Amino acid sequence: MSSQVKRIKVNLNKKLSSSYEISIGHDIIGKIGTIIAENRIADRYVVVTDSNVSVLYGELFLKELRKAGGEKAKAEIIEFPAGEASKNITTALTIVGRLLNLGVDRKSALLALGGGVVGDMTGFIASVFMRSIPYIQVPTSLLAQVDSSIGGKTAVDLPEGKNLLGTFYQPRGVFVDLKFLNTLPASEFNNGMAEIIKYGIIDDPDFFCLLEEGVEAIKKRDEAFLERIVTTSCRTKKKIVEIDEKDQGLRHILNFGHTIGHAVESGSEYKIPHGSAISAGMIAAARISERLYDFPSSDRARIERLIEAVGLPGYIPEFIRTEGVLARLKWDKKKSGTMINFVLLKKIGMPFVTAQVTESTLREVIEELRK
Ligand code: GLY
Repeated sequence: MSSQVKRIKVNLNKKLSSSYEISIGHDIIGKIGTIIAENRIADRYVVVTDSNVSVLYGELFLKELRKAGGEKAKAEIIEFPAGEASKNITTALTIVGRLLNLGVDRKSALLALGGGVVGDMTGFIASVFMRSIPYIQVPTSLLAQVDSSIGGKTAVDLPEGKNLLGTFYQPRGVFVDLKFLNTLPASEFNNGMAEIIKYGIIDDPDFFCLLEEGVEAIKKRDEAFLERIVTTSCRTKKKIVEIDEKDQGLRHILNFGHTIGHAVESGSEYKIPHGSAISAGMIAAARISERLYDFPSSDRARIERLIEAVGLPGYIPEFIRTEGVLARLKWDKKKSGTMINFVLLKKIGMPFVTAQVTESTLREVIEELRK
């Protein structure tokens, strides 16, 4: 049954970008078409999606879009093979070729129907196709719903690394339908849960408590509880993006757990899922904060307990070598020509950024977390 749609406004600095709304609800596919049609964002819509999502929701979504737009509504679908391996310039150029063949012009808009890969790549294409056309995010994974669909980061990967070619380009709307979570595999669900826990740790002690109390509801994927925590997460992300749209300061706190987490993830050649790597990274950051900055042991223990309780692994698997993780961190530093910045904690809800973490502390904490 479809639910009420909650709307959250993302108010951006008008000089940089236009503002937009995040609409959240359960089984709102039908309403998405109507809201888009009401807002008259474009004359024509092209849904960009991947092979997994297309099978489940592609036709249904297209039907609703055409229904909402009336007889003359033009809507097409372009699909590409699912997976991070597709997030590259070759796929982007193939999609651009299809757009040109369809006769898509600047009165058209793209709809990104899928997870982070679909959202990042569709946003990237929209930002450069004919010097930019509008796009709308319809995220279908939990991670995309609470993180990557909000805030306008777009990108494709290069052989040299992830997200190396990209833009800041805000969508014209984000539609979060919680019904998509019913078909989400456990590992994908966990990727999003790790980011939701992150919001509690970096921004909101009350939200962290709510998550502690709601572990059973999370495991059961209780609809009402998920709607509540997804909504809070979207509000937190939008608040941070509103203050720092172009990632020049505050937005860095969203990297909590991601510095060591990314080194673990890439060190495993992406065999370890993002959520598991980030969970280990968040525990590592909490332990470093405890050692160096008097972060209370009781708070560090609560973080570890919550991560474990929701079923995320808080350790670094044996096959990932400590030296390998350290080498990746150093390589990132060399590549960016800057210090490695760590997001650490004074308290739950009180993060700060520092480059002052010695290699010996890093080594000790990574060793402790290896299992
Ligand atoms: N996912 C991190 C950011 O949007 O800044």
